[in-house]
Amino acid sequence: MGSQPEPHILFTRDEIAATVKRLATEIRRDYQDKHPLLIGVLKGSFMFMADLIRLLDFPLEVEFITVSSYGRAMESSGKIKVVQGLRSKVRGRDVLVIEDIVDTGLAISFLLDYLRKKKPASLRLCALTDKPSRRQVPVTIDYLGFTVPNKFIVGYGIDWDEKFRYLPDIYTLEGDI
Ligand code: PRP
Repeated sequence: MGSQPEPHILFTRDEIAATVKRLATEIRRDYQDKHPLLIGVLKGSFMFMADLIRLLDFPLEVEFITVSSYGRAMESSGKIKVVQGLRSKVRGRDVLVIEDIVDTGLAISFLLDYLRKKKPASLRLCALTDKPSRRQVPVTIDYLGFTVPNKFIVGYGIDWDEKFRYLPDIYTLEGDI
């Protein structure tokens, strides 16, 4: 019989807080006079987005978008679509996309192409975590929190089969998955 998947700590809430603070400093430096549009990619980015935005003390707008790429299986199906779109106009705006993880890169490269067609003034990506060992398409991450190993990670908004999103720290998931 296999063992239940167990979370093992990878980044503590204090390490995450320090990293979010660093990213906020970088983003403030580049966007404080630009009234940017920050687009969080649901669901995984919700916790990161909430913490990051609380540290950005300048005018900005908040949007969310949902891109479906994974089913119950952990591997990307390769079929990507926008399932919940934007209310704000993107044309002419300085847009910063906020992701929780870039894995194969398929979801975010689809989304960046989708947004680029709407003619923003600029388009950049902030990702809390990056798993470069899994990349299938090249992705430029302008603001990066952590590089992570080739393991499933959960917590701080990131799920496994909709579980573990609530954890305040980030864990690797070990065992039979
Ligand atoms: C995750 C994550 C990224 C994407 C990364 O979302 O939030 O959007 O997968 O994978 P990729 O680089 O291989 O495309 P997921 O589809 O699991 O949805 P969720 O954010 O609702 O958990």
